[in-house]
Amino acid sequence: MPEFAVEMRGIVKRFPGVVANDGIDFALDRGEIHGLLGENGAGKTVLMSTLYGLYRPDAGEILINGKPESNYGPATAIKLGIGMVHQHFMLVPRLTVAENIMLGQEPVRSGLFIDRDTAVRRIEEFSNQYGLPVDPVARVEQLPVGEQQRVEIIKALYRGADTLILDEPTAVLT
Ligand SMILES: Nc1ncnc2c1ncn2[C@@H]1O[C@H](COP(=O)(O)OP(=O)(O)O)[C@@H](O)[C@H]1O
Ligand SMILES: [Mg+2]
Repeated sequence: MPEFAVEMRGIVKRFPGVVANDGIDFALDRGEIHGLLGENGAGKTVLMSTLYGLYRPDAGEILINGKPESNYGPATAIKLGIGMVHQHFMLVPRLTVAENIMLGQEPVRSGLFIDRDTAVRRIEEFSNQYGLPVDPVARVEQLPVGEQQRVEIIKALYRGADTLILDEPTAVLT
């Protein structure tokens, strides 16, 4: 087992007129929970979005399970088990919980039809396993924001995330 699940070394990310991340080192061991503190504009979201593959750093490297990842993007991050719940949720309000979670991941029956029952069952399994109650057939637009957040978390877990990034997870809660 490599020492760290995730390691970021010397991460630099510049935008026109601002250095958002200036040589950041971050390491995450298995089973750890880290809280990233800093005032507005400190660079927390940019650093975590970089770990999720949304930004390509101008310098530095990212290692997942001890392995340096050169061509790092969102698809790679998801494949390597990184999941992110954004501060502003990315759910489709008109779709159901199950449809949102399955989006792009639909289990297919006989190569053509989406197997909704399988998806609902798997969502219920995750929901019970992690103690995150959600109603798979409810429309997301009808849910309170706390339950929408649980949907986002289950969606990330459903995609196989074993490192979960939550951006400002308490800001939206009442
Ligand atoms: N996509 C972007 N384009 C240009 N500047 C950005 C972008 N995203 C963030 N920034 C800038 O980078 C800095 C860090 O932002 P951010 O990581 O969002 O801070 P926070 O710690 O509040 O999450 C800020 O100055 C912000 O304005
Ligand atoms: Mg932020």
